[in-house]
Amino acid sequence: MWTLMKQYWQNRSYNIARLKARPIPLHIAVILDGNGRWALRRGLPRFAGHMAGAKRVREITMAAAELGVQVLTYFVFSTENWRRPHQEVRSILRLPLEMVITELPLLLKNNVKVNIIGNINNLPVETKEALTKFVEKTSGNTGMQLNLAVNYGARGELTQALSKIAEQVERGLLRVAEVTEELIKKYLWTAGMPDPDLVIRTGGDFRLSNFLLWQLAYSELWFTKCLWPDFSKQHFFNAVSDFQGRSRRYGGV
Ligand code: IPE
Ligand code: MG
Repeated sequence: MWTLMKQYWQNRSYNIARLKARPIPLHIAVILDGNGRWALRRGLPRFAGHMAGAKRVREITMAAAELGVQVLTYFVFSTENWRRPHQEVRSILRLPLEMVITELPLLLKNNVKVNIIGNINNLPVETKEALTKFVEKTSGNTGMQLNLAVNYGARGELTQALSKIAEQVERGLLRVAEVTEELIKKYLWTAGMPDPDLVIRTGGDFRLSNFLLWQLAYSELWFTKCLWPDFSKQHFFNAVSDFQGRSRRYGGV
């Protein structure tokens, strides 16, 4: 037993040390998909998949923090997810209530700072309260930033940014010539953060689903068939290792 534990520990530190010897993505964004299928394959209701998925978040968050990732973003609930049956939406939006109890102490212990991207104003009041609690309680933390994209859609984000900018122009506070990429970035929910270097999508689909469309312009994409509730630290390290082997040219040669 002891030897096994020692072996596990050595493997684990070896992986982390090996990854740390090469550039670590500053920002990793994750589209966590496949919860529903994971549950259905086990003859369970879809909600069981969301619960299992919520449990996976801890291991991956801690692995990212351990690697020294600066920003980790999870696509938790999209503006399009409202199209799901009411019961399922309700059950997903109740998850933060429990997670504030189980996860907040760990986030505090690990100096993780939570930020919400998306419009939380039209979420159920108790969901909004739980999310606000994550943000407020961790606001003094200085370690990894954890973005939760909740009721988030990239087109909605760009639309609100453009509308605010247009309003400034209309009021004569901004000139058209001042509308630059740098300015637009300031009106996005990710203002002040580096763009994602790496995007991970679980669940086998090859699409972006209205996620961070502006910010992903030069991100490296990594897709896996693995369903989110099965996604482990080892999968996560594989994605990072794959990223480290890529050559990023940003349109150059
Ligand atoms: C992702 O899993 C979780 C959310 C979108 C909240 P899904 O619920 O989309 O799982 P599949 O794609 O149906 O398997
Ligand atoms: Mg899905």
